[in-house]
Amino acid sequence: MAQDDHSGAELAAADSSHAANVPAVKTGTALIQADAFENPGFPPHRPRVTDEDPKKERRAQRTVYTLFYLSILGSVWAIAAYMLFPIESNDVGAVRLNNMFIGLGATLALLGIGFGAVHWAKALMEDVELADERHKIGGNEVARAGAVKVFQDADRESGFTRRSVIRNSLIGALVVFPLPAIVLFRGWAPQDEHPVELLSHTMWQKGTRLALDPSGAPIKAADVTIGSAFHVIPEGLNDLEHGRLEQKAKAAVLLMRLNPEDLNENVNRTSWSYNGIVAYSKICTHVGCPVALYEQHTHHLLCPCHQSQFDVADHCKVIFGPAKRPLPQLPIAVDDEGYLIAQSDFTEPVGPSFWERH
Ligand code: FES
Repeated sequence: MAQDDHSGAELAAADSSHAANVPAVKTGTALIQADAFENPGFPPHRPRVTDEDPKKERRAQRTVYTLFYLSILGSVWAIAAYMLFPIESNDVGAVRLNNMFIGLGATLALLGIGFGAVHWAKALMEDVELADERHKIGGNEVARAGAVKVFQDADRESGFTRRSVIRNSLIGALVVFPLPAIVLFRGWAPQDEHPVELLSHTMWQKGTRLALDPSGAPIKAADVTIGSAFHVIPEGLNDLEHGRLEQKAKAAVLLMRLNPEDLNENVNRTSWSYNGIVAYSKICTHVGCPVALYEQHTHHLLCPCHQSQFDVADHCKVIFGPAKRPLPQLPIAVDDEGYLIAQSDFTEPVGPSFWERH
């Protein structure tokens, strides 16, 4: 016993007077407050049906490995569903079927492992109550030997080595479970083309008219008044049968008209604008969100995702935020009918900075 100078509470060394039915633990010099109530100890142990009836034990064992095999079946089905129900462009029904059957397979795979493991632990692993006393995080011989013993006991109690059918079916389920993810992620990449090449070019080419998003109507230079901003797509984008969204994700442009005196143009780029009308990629160079907010008075573009700001008057240089390079500029001109056209594709990859490093 010891006396706490500050509170006057009666303290006891932890190993001196704890309940008799709790194993003695070395606590060093630690003191704990004397218990106000006697430790009632563990309730009497109640054996499970699987402890007493070998038939029920075998049935539980069958249930566990059946669940693990079902998990394998679910994983394999998810892969098969990916092949059997491909996503057809513009077919919502195909997307729904694809998602539903892959989801069902993944659900079965996950639940099979989860329920199997829980049932194994509840019905078959050794069922004892014990107090896990705190002790020093040690590194001495005795502690290490104790750790090894814990693993050996866990192995013996769970039957991990002994119940080889269950163990192997669990290992099989865990090995097969990630396979659907590999197949799905692979499916995202283009099959026949180099992905970096694909991202380096857009639909814009010499003579492509700038058109309003989403109508696709071409834009006349005379209709762009000072201070205005347009969301722009290449003319013809809406007529694409395949890959419209992919093309739009690269080719989206913002068109603005400033007072030409406000433009601080690089001498090499004076021919890239027309009467103060400039066009820049709408895809943020940070991580690719659409830069959609234009502040007319300051000529600043703001990306709402992480607040990068670009100065339109100064070739869309980054003036704030995490983006690391300016928005690529689309060189524009006017055709014989007065419509705005592109002089070429972008001269650098659009989007996150990663892609300029290939
Ligand atoms: S994506 Fe634009 S700031 Fe992050």
